[in-house]
Amino acid sequence: MVSQFTDNFDRSFYYLRLSITDVCNFRCTYCLPDGYKPQGVTNKSFLSLDEIRRVTRAFAAAGTEKVRLTGGEPSLRRDFTDIIAAVRENSAIRQLAVTTNGYRLARDVASWREAGLTALNVSIDSLDARQFHAITGQDKFHQVMAGIDAAFDAGFSKVKVNTVLMRDVNHHSLQTFLDWIRDRPIQLRFIELMETGEGGDLFRNHHVSGEVIRDQLLQQGWVRQLRGRSDGPAQVFCHPDYAGEIGLIMPYEKNFCASCNRLRVSAVGKLHLCLFGDGGVSLRDLLQSDDQQAELQARIAASLKTKKQTHFLHQGNTGITQNLSFIGG
Ligand code: 5AD
Ligand code: SF4
Repeated sequence: MVSQFTDNFDRSFYYLRLSITDVCNFRCTYCLPDGYKPQGVTNKSFLSLDEIRRVTRAFAAAGTEKVRLTGGEPSLRRDFTDIIAAVRENSAIRQLAVTTNGYRLARDVASWREAGLTALNVSIDSLDARQFHAITGQDKFHQVMAGIDAAFDAGFSKVKVNTVLMRDVNHHSLQTFLDWIRDRPIQLRFIELMETGEGGDLFRNHHVSGEVIRDQLLQQGWVRQLRGRSDGPAQVFCHPDYAGEIGLIMPYEKNFCASCNRLRVSAVGKLHLCLFGDGGVSLRDLLQSDDQQAELQARIAASLKTKKQTHFLHQGNTGITQNLSFIGG
């Protein structure tokens, strides 16, 4: 099905990133260095299971084929498994992914898969347990690693790992990461550090372009892959000697936004047209009953006509985005 959600720059939207909570139990240096602080939002004000069901139904009816559940840490919701099942009630949603810090994987990943989860992204910025602790504020490296093993045991044939690339933290560690994926079907994705409202100093001290990784990969015989219509913006590289793959996400690169195919809905039900956008368009009033679906689709389609061609990160304009915990990166 061709997506009914299109913008004025010939982009079609097949991919919804849905945040289901702002709460996180990690304190990643680039995201929530002081830990999660409720901002007048109580747990009860995050989208309910029924609201999630309705919003994903409207997106599915308009051509969305992939949904990613994000947070905060989505698996901190007690009804997380029910949420997975509710999104998968839409047969058009063929891919349902979650981005997680991995904290609950070892315990729960098998039940997530049974409920219909099809893909997993786990955040791991270091393969050194002490450095992992220093970055996340949680001494959970071994637990997260056990979680990845559990994901393979539960039947996931591939797992994606997100690694935020940071100067003097992990940008010299490519070989360590490569050794790790030699025999594991992991797509390890280096994400360039993005500037957020609260992360200006960290950005100035640690941002490094993904080009340093790309140059090394090409030198070592890695080859770039083609991209599908609901894939993310990663440039993916393969190598015959490796079971794993490397992805590069470079939001500061020219034309990064040209292939944008995703929309975002926050945990309080606002549609965000860009990670670094405006205040968002509330959808919540149209999530209160099953008979508002047409209106909901119309509001989303109309909002899209105001989507800008690109973000303004190059000008140091981070929009309303203080940190990425409310919208999941
Ligand atoms: N820059 C880049 N990526 C970020 N994430 C969160 N904050 C940032 C940032 N400032 C991403 C990380 C993490 C996911 C949850 O969000 O990739 O794995
Ligand atoms: Fe939590 Fe993810 Fe932010 Fe880390 S990056 S603090 S795991 S929301």
